[in-house]
Amino acid sequence: MPLFEMACLPRLRLHMRHTSGQARSMRDNMGPIIQEMSACAMQKTYTVAIAPQGWIFDAPSGATLLQSAERSGLRLAASCRNGTCRTCMCHLSQGKVRYAIEWPGLSADEKRDGYILPCVAYPEADLVVDEAKAARSGI
Ligand code: FES
Repeated sequence: MPLFEMACLPRLRLHMRHTSGQARSMRDNMGPIIQEMSACAMQKTYTVAIAPQGWIFDAPSGATLLQSAERSGLRLAASCRNGTCRTCMCHLSQGKVRYAIEWPGLSADEKRDGYILPCVAYPEADLVVDEAKAARSGI
């Protein structure tokens, strides 16, 4: 499945499920869907390299690093998937990520030292992530 569809379809399905069953006009229902599709169409896709293994995967700007890694057949350490347990914490040696909200899972010092939480981190550039414990799914 193309990355665009992988990143956008779940969001669109969720929105359609949310609005279905409500007595709203077609225009009311389609407006948010069109906005969502426009946002997806403007997504960029970055390249993420996992060190030291050298594995590379594509990461759309609208998906977390953990989601993109898993879609590419890579397994990263994870538990809560919401930025609180720190199981997924790893080091970003190159590039930049953003968070949807300021998560308490990382201290200001850890952020400054390059640590990230892939379960809630979205790429804003091509990245190099140090994660020696990464594995290929099924291995
Ligand atoms: S999996 Fe818990 S903080 Fe990322």
